Amino acid sequence: MERVGRFALNGIYLGDSLVLMKDIPDGSIDLIVTDPPFAIDFKAKRSNYNRSQDRVLEGYNEIPKERYYEFTLRWMREAHRILKDTGSMYVFSGWTNLKDILNAIDEVGFITINHIIWKYQFGVFTRRKFVTSHYHILFVVKDEKRYKFNKIEHYPEDVWIIKREYWKGKVKTPTKLPLEIVKKIILYSSDEEDVVFDPFLGSGTVAVAAKLLNRRFLGFEIVPEYYEFARERVARTERELFAGRR
Ligand SMILES: C[S@@+](CC[C@H](N)C(=O)[O-])C[C@H]1O[C@@H](n2cnc3c(N)ncnc32)[C@H](O)[C@@H]1O
Repeated sequence: MERVGRFALNGIYLGDSLVLMKDIPDGSIDLIVTDPPFAIDFKAKRSNYNRSQDRVLEGYNEIPKERYYEFTLRWMREAHRILKDTGSMYVFSGWTNLKDILNAIDEVGFITINHIIWKYQFGVFTRRKFVTSHYHILFVVKDEKRYKFNKIEHYPEDVWIIKREYWKGKVKTPTKLPLEIVKKIILYSSDEEDVVFDPFLGSGTVAVAAKLLNRRFLGFEIVPEYYEFARERVARTERELFAGRR
């Protein structure tokens, strides 16, 4: 079985990324795709956050606003260390946390190649403000002369219009990236057999997309329910691939 440090490739691990990432050797990862936890204002009323809906797993792990920059710097320093010189990282961020993400990218020494906007549909009603229906994706590299970029479209634009996925009737985690968007990133910025890593795996979308595209993967998740959910999702994908159904 192939490994990076003590971790088996095509494996996902339960634990704190800030701790686990220290055991990944320098320059061993080709591509990082991640949607880190949000900063939540814990002073805000808890009831604003609808965390107890049926079928949504409990236990979402958020970071207090005042500690968000420090938290971001810590995981991003590790991300920079473990990435190969030819590697890339894509970080998802809502606009509320964006300042900390952008400052950490500069502080750690990443070079920003693109600031991508992901536009999705979101049907909430607002009275006195615009409805937020976009996300930011920061595409950053270690070496702007050496990073991989497979130009799979003739005019690759930096606004991506991709629908969110709705999983009717199934247990789901509260935030989940569409498989389509992660697959697009993996196709552009890695080759088959490359190692794709997500330190904040959630429901396991990055691992599933990597598996479907014949890349190797590694992922960490701190909440046991999400970890179990992701493990089962990856195992199901592997069974379906084996049976020729994917
Ligand atoms: C925004 S979600 C990721 C969603 C994921 N991209 C998906 O498609 O399902 C962020 C995840 O990071 C996890 N998390 C938060 N802090 C963590 C830490 N220190 N180490 C590992 N995972 C953490 C949260 O539990 C949550 O599942």
